[in-house]
Amino acid sequence: MSHAVSFEEFRTGQGWDAHRIAGRRKLILGGVTIPWDYGLDGHSDADILLHAITDAVLGAICAGDIGEHFPPTDPQWKDAPSRKFLEHALAMARAAGFTLVHVDSTVILETPKLKMHRDDIRQSVAEIVALSVDRVSVKFKTAEGVGPVGRGFSAEAQAVVTIAR
Ligand code: C5P
Ligand code: MG
Repeated sequence: MSHAVSFEEFRTGQGWDAHRIAGRRKLILGGVTIPWDYGLDGHSDADILLHAITDAVLGAICAGDIGEHFPPTDPQWKDAPSRKFLEHALAMARAAGFTLVHVDSTVILETPKLKMHRDDIRQSVAEIVALSVDRVSVKFKTAEGVGPVGRGFSAEAQAVVTIAR
């Protein structure tokens, strides 16, 4: 007897985000605070990784983008932790009958080195999106000293999600 769940439709969503590097701010990636001399500027906690994943989920359900759903001018979302945005986007996906299957992502930041934080960030994202950690991938890249990321002005994140129903 098979208990396999069969899905009729798979979809992919893509997301991207960038924030300026700033002093006296925290560097929060995937809900994990990374010890560093600088952080990322923004209305919210500036968690570029969760913002990119949120946009990827919204993209997969063709539901616009993060700024449309969570304007910083709306008191409900002002200073909200970014996990709230992602949880809301996932609730919208669930309401449309979709289940999240997999998250792949890349953070592009010149310094600090992040790979020693990979498992913590994967665990944190997995907990937020309610997936097992073996379905959450987080990669890191420098920009090789070139462009705004390479010159230390900004950080970027990219994400791809797969959803099914
Ligand atoms: O960008 P680059 O190819 O030089 O990255 C080399 C390695 O350094 C990658 O495997 C990546 O995991 C790691 N890395 C990191 N923290 C960064 C950027 C890259 O740990 N901020
Ligand atoms: Mg952002």
